[in-house]
Amino acid sequence: LTGHITLDFGYKNTGSTKSAITFLDGEEGILKYRGYSIEELAEKSTFLEVSYLLIYGNLPTQTELDNFQTLISRHTLIHEDMKKFFDGYPSKSHPMGQLSALVCSLSAFYPESLVAEQTKEEQELTMIKLLAKMPTIVSWIYKKSLGHPLIYPRNNFDYVTNFLNMTFGQRTEDVTIDPVVVSAMNTLLILHADHEQNCSASTVRMVGSSDCNLFASISAGISALWGPLHGGANQAVIEMLELIKADGGDTEKWINKAKDKNDPFRMMGFGHRVYKNFDPRAKIIKKACDDVLEKLGINDPILSIAKRLEEAALSDPYFIERKLYPNVDFYSGIIYRALGFPTDMFTVLFALGRLPGWIAQWKEMHENKEPIGRPRQIYTGHTNRKYVDVNGR
Ligand code: SDX
Repeated sequence: LTGHITLDFGYKNTGSTKSAITFLDGEEGILKYRGYSIEELAEKSTFLEVSYLLIYGNLPTQTELDNFQTLISRHTLIHEDMKKFFDGYPSKSHPMGQLSALVCSLSAFYPESLVAEQTKEEQELTMIKLLAKMPTIVSWIYKKSLGHPLIYPRNNFDYVTNFLNMTFGQRTEDVTIDPVVVSAMNTLLILHADHEQNCSASTVRMVGSSDCNLFASISAGISALWGPLHGGANQAVIEMLELIKADGGDTEKWINKAKDKNDPFRMMGFGHRVYKNFDPRAKIIKKACDDVLEKLGINDPILSIAKRLEEAALSDPYFIERKLYPNVDFYSGIIYRALGFPTDMFTVLFALGRLPGWIAQWKEMHENKEPIGRPRQIYTGHTNRKYVDVNGR
């Protein structure tokens, strides 16, 4: 071979599997779950219905959806002994670290989930249990961070209303959850529900390919999502916008910092490995931002900074040449904040939304009887070296 080959590493274009769950077209900015466009699902469906679609492959009939909701409502409680885990965390420990550990700890209470050769029914019940308990775990992490009493699940509430009630409800009185908040939460969770072989989904598949149980596989996915280059970006975007606001809102200055290779600052919420056009989810969330903040009567100054930043970036050659557009994380945090969530809970909300997608991918991998993941490498180290001890012998 002559000349210099530049090898690109890091799973950048690897076809790691075959999947029928989610379709992305990065050039055209298209996203479909099981063939349905994200625009239609975000407008017309609910998160529970989309969860069913991703996991089972088709939209449910009314009976199937009712049975799904009923089954889930029977498994929303977590073992009372798990409370000891919540008590063990310092109140300011990051919710993603807690979530990853608590989801993995579910395997301690459901030993049947550890059986590699689960029957289809056993495997399905394990998935239902995880879908059912995730909102309880997420809301209790939040309540513990406030030192507030835990709110137990209410089986007469739908999936999203139940989550919001456990999160924002009070022991002393029933709070009515604003339908605007329920609708916005459904939309956000739908938009985060799956995204083919992203970092965290690939992690779930890799860990699951060793026949590791569902809880531990999803726990690994949660850890992967935590990174600021992945799901952690939604928290990093708000921290970035607050920084720019505190600095006087000079978007031009921060665009130039993002372009400066000697400056570690990165425009969080911008760019995507696959989308080289608008992330269709960002378009929907940006519109929802205006609707939700107007309906809730909230005027958040960082929304206008975000819009000015987007406008400046999209007209800047650096961003245009590299096809850097706002991604799903650029506007989502502004809505989460308007709904009442603190910044450090944003990535946990991303995980809550992505759970059905991770479960669907884990299920598909097992159905396709995929082998254990074991990629190779290009070795660049020493070849033959003779051992010499410290005395030179
Ligand atoms: C998610 O994969 C998925 O589907 C993920 C996700 C999902 O739903 O699961 O969509 C969720 O993770 C969205 C992405 C959230 N992350 C961020 O917003 C963090 C900021 N963005 C980047 O760090 C970056 O854009 C990535 C990580 C998203 C993509 O990185 P790539 O594809 O590896 O691109 P790259 O780092 O090779 O960048 C290409 C060029 C580089 O410049 P040059 O070396 O060519 O001069 O673009 C530049 C980069 O420096 N660049 C940026 C930039 N993103 C890329 N420059 C400034 N700001 C940025 N945000």
